[in-house]
Amino acid sequence: MKVRDIQTVGVIGSGAMGSQIAMVCALSGYEVVLNDIEESNLVKAEDSFQGHMNRRIQKGKLTEEEVNYAFGRLSFTSNLQDVKGADIVIEAVVEKLDVKRNLFARLEEITKEGTILATNSSTIVSSKIADATNHPENVCNIHFFNPPLVMELVEVVKGPHTSDETARAANEFIKTLNKVPVLLKKEISGFIANRILGKLLDEAVFLLENDYATHEEIDLVVKKALGHPLGPFELMDLTGIDVTYFVRSQRYQESGNEADKPSSLIQEKVEKGELGRKVGKGFYQYS
Ligand SMILES: NC(=O)c1ccc[n+]([C@@H]2O[C@H](COP(=O)([O-])OP(=O)(O)OC[C@H]3O[C@@H](n4cnc5c(N)ncnc54)[C@H](O)[C@@H]3O)[C@@H](O)[C@H]2O)c1
Repeated sequence: MKVRDIQTVGVIGSGAMGSQIAMVCALSGYEVVLNDIEESNLVKAEDSFQGHMNRRIQKGKLTEEEVNYAFGRLSFTSNLQDVKGADIVIEAVVEKLDVKRNLFARLEEITKEGTILATNSSTIVSSKIADATNHPENVCNIHFFNPPLVMELVEVVKGPHTSDETARAANEFIKTLNKVPVLLKKEISGFIANRILGKLLDEAVFLLENDYATHEEIDLVVKKALGHPLGPFELMDLTGIDVTYFVRSQRYQESGNEADKPSSLIQEKVEKGELGRKVGKGFYQYS
């Protein structure tokens, strides 16, 4: 697949990431098919698209015509077969390896020969998924950051199975979205940003668990002293504490290293359902 041949994008999973990835692609002129197993999540994605676009129109960042044009290019479906015409598919479903592997095997059956199959996973390298397909050369990681409408940088990761052509097309495709790609030539779990971020979150959780300071104080130091826009606890609330938990569990499964195990504080939050902004409570309370 060459980037000039990409016209239709399939996005699987209409949650926090998939819904906005679909919006970004539609705003850049692609036909987009957004799929989710939950009808209610597709309705939420459609509402959120309207909300985001209305705010951009009010701020003068987009015209009504641009938004209508993008909206006309976006379709919402709970039938996976509807992505059959896609030239590239970006998977953004739950961070569970078996779910992703099953999905990729089905996507390969449904889509045409040569379609690029990319995972937006925060941490799982595509070689763990690619061997569920017969054409691993078409599989790679394309990792958007949250929120995709705002964040400019995207990590593209070439696995040992990924062809040069697929890696090049994925990298060029990101440029057509007005984003900045960084192409990792070799795969490593967590890629660049999440590996570095992981160390920061570990230290923040260690300081909180051992009562050195409150989560508000730790966030304050990271923002005011290190110049980060969000503190680590604000960031976990935004990302979803369950996502942090899955990422750590995944890394622990891969490495078997006790130091990679999710902390008991994070595990407790997940068990209590205090997952962050999306449920109104995480480390902070949201109205
Ligand atoms: N949240 C973040 O900050 C962030 C950032 C970068 C990457 N990611 C990665 O993106 C992916 C999605 O994360 P999210 O935060 O958007 O999750 P989310 O929980 O908000 O959304 C996941 C969506 O996938 C749907 N889904 C589950 N199984 C499906 C299937 N088999 N077919 C179709 N739809 C299915 C769910 O119904 C849900 O709507 C994960 O792999 C995550 O690691 C997340």
